[in-house]
Amino acid sequence: MNKFPKNFLWGASTSAYQIEGCVEEGGKVTSTMDLYGDKPSYPKGITGFKEASQHYKYWKTDVEMMAKMGLKSYRFSISWPRIIKDENGSVNQEGIKYYNDLIDELLKYKIEPIVTMFHFDIPLFVMKDGGVHSKNFVKHFELYSEVLLKNFGTKINYWLTINELNILVMMADGFEVLEKQDLSKQLKVLHNLNLAQAKAIIKCKEICPNAKIGPAPNIATVYSNTCKPEDYTAKLNVEMIRNWVYLDAVCKGKYSNIFIKFAKKMGIDFEVTKDDLDTLSKGKPDFIAFNYYTTMTAQMPTEESIKETKEKFDQQKGLVIPGFGMAAKNPNLQKTEFGWEIDPVGFKNTLREVYDRYGLPVMITENGIGARDELTNDGKIHDDYRIYYYEQHIRQMAEAISDGVEIIGYMPWSAIDLVSTHEGISKRYGFIYVNRDEFDLKDMKRIEKDSYYWYKNLIEVNGENI
Ligand code: BG6
Repeated sequence: MNKFPKNFLWGASTSAYQIEGCVEEGGKVTSTMDLYGDKPSYPKGITGFKEASQHYKYWKTDVEMMAKMGLKSYRFSISWPRIIKDENGSVNQEGIKYYNDLIDELLKYKIEPIVTMFHFDIPLFVMKDGGVHSKNFVKHFELYSEVLLKNFGTKINYWLTINELNILVMMADGFEVLEKQDLSKQLKVLHNLNLAQAKAIIKCKEICPNAKIGPAPNIATVYSNTCKPEDYTAKLNVEMIRNWVYLDAVCKGKYSNIFIKFAKKMGIDFEVTKDDLDTLSKGKPDFIAFNYYTTMTAQMPTEESIKETKEKFDQQKGLVIPGFGMAAKNPNLQKTEFGWEIDPVGFKNTLREVYDRYGLPVMITENGIGARDELTNDGKIHDDYRIYYYEQHIRQMAEAISDGVEIIGYMPWSAIDLVSTHEGISKRYGFIYVNRDEFDLKDMKRIEKDSYYWYKNLIEVNGENI
């Protein structure tokens, strides 16, 4: 099997609103996510994001522990509402200082900082100006990206534009971006976000010509539920709107004919001007980053299958379009205790598909298992299931390299425990445990899990032991 390249960026990942907490400190303005946990739609009995892991306070300890783990890279997001104060684009210097200090600390330990510009936390002033429904979003995001590139550009080699642009569009109501799911609105959001992304890429090329920039969607191989031709059509349809429309827009600078016809058939006026196409075609990435958790299975909806699908909100489920496609369960896969299907071979296949379609180097910016980790009486966290999960996935990543896929780095989710998008702090992902419960902040102590030592060892030998 092929070896991991010498400079492979073994790392780990987080996002600002899920880890920082301290939402009223440092001149930060309010974001959609600060209010999300209080909304009636947010599940009851689990914490929101106001305190999170208080990384805003403990960032030095956290970086030191990451360095001791041997991380070569750390992918984090900058909080837009910590940087821009209002609709006129006034810059919060305290926020700039905070992230400059964080980046300097990472560089001190020779950890490559990989920055996501926007990971779900939209400032309220942007929402009030029409949010993602309005082309004003493009202007706000362009200005924000310019501030980031000018203030941190000399230190950052890898930029990521928008985290999971596709999940933002597909699960828009879950992220408080849309009031409710509505395909016509979703396609507008999709186009606005694509334009915003392209503008940021263009700015990056102007301001930081030596840096590399890429999108960071959530991509997953889509299986056909059966070998019935109708189910295969559903697979093609679903993968188009689940994966490819996003990557086509950024990598090819256009929407496919089949996608445009789909919008028309749905009676949606999907307006793309010549100027828009010009922007898309100038904003092409240097690499593709993507998050991978699981694969998806598609079937052609029948009356019966639609009736059966009344599952709880989850970013991996929920798609039903009559005559087009819907999600199905895959009986061949095991599930995490939170019901997410586990598919390491699907990881290799997804890597191959993405690389084969676009021919750009790939970076994995999320992959991991959410679990109810337990701090045991010996003061440790024995997360052997996480070690097993990573072993399986990293082995498949090695196979993808051996099959010819060019992979720059692997940044599993997450470096330290943080608050899940909608399942609280009980759904833990970190290599480092944070001693708090849903509502009891306890002492916030950081403790290395068994997986921390396992990953440290793997990094030391550059994955040779896998
Ligand atoms: C990704 C997001 O979709 O999945 C993260 O980028 C998120 O923000 C992660 O935390 C895991 O999802 P969840 O819902 O378990 O937190």
